[in-house]
Amino acid sequence: MLFCGASPEAASGMLPNRMPHVSFSSQFIFPPMSDSSSHDHAPLKADGFGTRAVHAGQQPDPATGAVMTPIYQTSTYAQAAPGEHKGHEYSRVSNPTRTALEGNLASLEGAEHGIAFSSGVAGIDAIVKSLRPGDHVVATDDLYGGTYRLLREVFEPLNIQTSFVDMSDPDAVTDAFTEDTALLWVETPTNPLMRLVDIEALAGRAHAHDITVAVDNTFATPYLQQPLTHGADLVLHSATKYLGGHSDLILGAVCTNSDEWAEKLRFQIKSTGAAPGPMDCFLTLRGPRPSTCAWSSTAPAPGGWRRCSMPTTRSGTCGIPAFPPTPATRWPRSKCRTTAA
Ligand SMILES: Cc1ncc(COP(=O)(O)O)c(C=O)c1O
Repeated sequence: MLFCGASPEAASGMLPNRMPHVSFSSQFIFPPMSDSSSHDHAPLKADGFGTRAVHAGQQPDPATGAVMTPIYQTSTYAQAAPGEHKGHEYSRVSNPTRTALEGNLASLEGAEHGIAFSSGVAGIDAIVKSLRPGDHVVATDDLYGGTYRLLREVFEPLNIQTSFVDMSDPDAVTDAFTEDTALLWVETPTNPLMRLVDIEALAGRAHAHDITVAVDNTFATPYLQQPLTHGADLVLHSATKYLGGHSDLILGAVCTNSDEWAEKLRFQIKSTGAAPGPMDCFLTLRGPRPSTCAWSSTAPAPGGWRRCSMPTTRSGTCGIPAFPPTPATRWPRSKCRTTAA
């Protein structure tokens, strides 16, 4: 099933089938890593993406030398004396397998911090739960149905209201800001319509109003798009999808350069319990390893996820073959990473 979480509006056809012109800055990584001509993505410089996908966050197990991070299937940790431990006290708070995964995902997103959750929705929940009653959210009007449900049915009764806006129009986004707006929630590409949002253009406007910018990067993956380099403050992943890559787990992650946000989100996990299990963290760590190959050659298509290349056309665009070739669904070739020549 392709768009298992289509928003109710989109699923019922209520959303107009807008395919507006979208103008982008260098949001998608291009060209392949060997060419560094015009796009300076600092996080890719220290090590290549593939190297970081395989190694980041992990080191040989200190107990045995095992090169693959073990599944630390434990709830708690022996302490020499109360409070005297080796970095982990209780696995709701932290676990070595989870720590390895968090380091790996943070590295892929070029972030200081990675925080893993029991699901993508738990990550979104933790972000919104860090707001306060009376705060206001501006969100993409085409977005994952579970995000829509969470914002409308869980947070609106708690007096965190959301305005859903067509983000192809930056002025409409600015118009939706109120003095209470605390969070801009961007999903790009969107689920289900695969529409694209210019993160950089919106981040500038949001930051001018002191609004935190969160980007759901689930569908692009950090291989194709690193939102923090375009001004986002928080990046959300449903690792259940491409990051996990095998359809055998549910897990979420948030990456950020903000110490304050990292602390808030870790506090949420500790306090409300949305911690992923070590087995799922181990399985998720396996996802990025073959990623450079798999993420660049996999695309959604009606009827299921299927493998295909990101073809380029003579007109110089690339995109998902199953979607009609409109400006909203085709990425300028100069602005995306593609396997095609
Ligand atoms: C774009 C997007 N974000 C978030 C989620 C939620 O993730 P999870 O199912 O891991 O809770 C999904 C799930 O389909 C999704 O498609």
